[in-house]
Amino acid sequence: MRILTGIQPSGALHLGNYFGAMLPAIELQEQGEAYYFIADYHSMTSLTDPVRRREYTRDVALDFLACGLDPKRCVFWCQSDVPAVTELAWLLSTVTPMGLLERAHSYKDKMANLAEGDIEKVNHGLFAYPVLMAADILLFDSNVVPVGRDQKQHLEMTRDIAGKFNGLYGEVFVIPEPRIQDSVAVVPGTDGRKMSKSYGNTIEIFGDEKSLKKRIMAIKTDSRLPAEPKPDAEQNIAIQLLKLVAPPEVSADLENRLRVGGTGYGDVKKALLEHCWNYFAEPRKRRAELAANPDHVEQVLREGAERAGAVAVQVMARVKSACGLTR
Ligand code: TRP
Repeated sequence: MRILTGIQPSGALHLGNYFGAMLPAIELQEQGEAYYFIADYHSMTSLTDPVRRREYTRDVALDFLACGLDPKRCVFWCQSDVPAVTELAWLLSTVTPMGLLERAHSYKDKMANLAEGDIEKVNHGLFAYPVLMAADILLFDSNVVPVGRDQKQHLEMTRDIAGKFNGLYGEVFVIPEPRIQDSVAVVPGTDGRKMSKSYGNTIEIFGDEKSLKKRIMAIKTDSRLPAEPKPDAEQNIAIQLLKLVAPPEVSADLENRLRVGGTGYGDVKKALLEHCWNYFAEPRKRRAELAANPDHVEQVLREGAERAGAVAVQVMARVKSACGLTR
């Protein structure tokens, strides 16, 4: 079973990324052949600063390796190091109905939220994003694609496009199955909404202790005094986050103390800071070591690109032969 997923380079890793996507992906490497890539081509539809792109790409690599992705067990590469994917995207685009792309939520949302006169900002790459994503998946004969719910429609489009191509040119592509990660926790941000960079409510994992403290102290609480009982303690944001990073007896004890009264939110935040810091102590150390050894990280990505590239060459030969692009 080949498991493939792409990760957008989008800035500092936060608790939401980690528990929502990265940890499940790292755990999945035990269950099959994991193919994970950094989606730097995709990032071009929204990020136009080359310095930041380079920095974010490097950060994703460091974060994943530090958090336990094992390059011996999986194939880990940077999308643009296997450029055949853009060639395949073109071939796929010729069988992709415009109407299919016009129905994409990601595109429709962008159009619906446009300010007056901003139509020029909607680039073709954004419109064609699902085609490149289909190419990412189909180029590697992927069987299973673990993604968040927001990507479900993109996966359905990939299956449509592959089916269309197969219908025209023969059984060229493996039709992938989505694995929607519903079971993973929705991690609340400091304001209680889903933790997301676009809401500015994130808690970054690999910053220094002072910044972590600042973010944890920013978690929204109500004005009830420490002495007051808080029967809704399980809804407290800091308690919910504590459950992710502390042993269950620690979070249960604090939750109970909030419930009966006599404990303030400050105590919970203090515990959260301590456990959050310790939970990531090992990865933090490994990350610093990796950051000090950029040649090693580069080599991991190079080797990943070679292994991914070898699969891509075979699949492209099959595709091009099927549609008459070979003599
Ligand atoms: N679109 C995905 C996201 O924004 C990232 C991605 C790009 C991806 N290509 C992929 C995910 C292929 C799975 C498979 O999260």
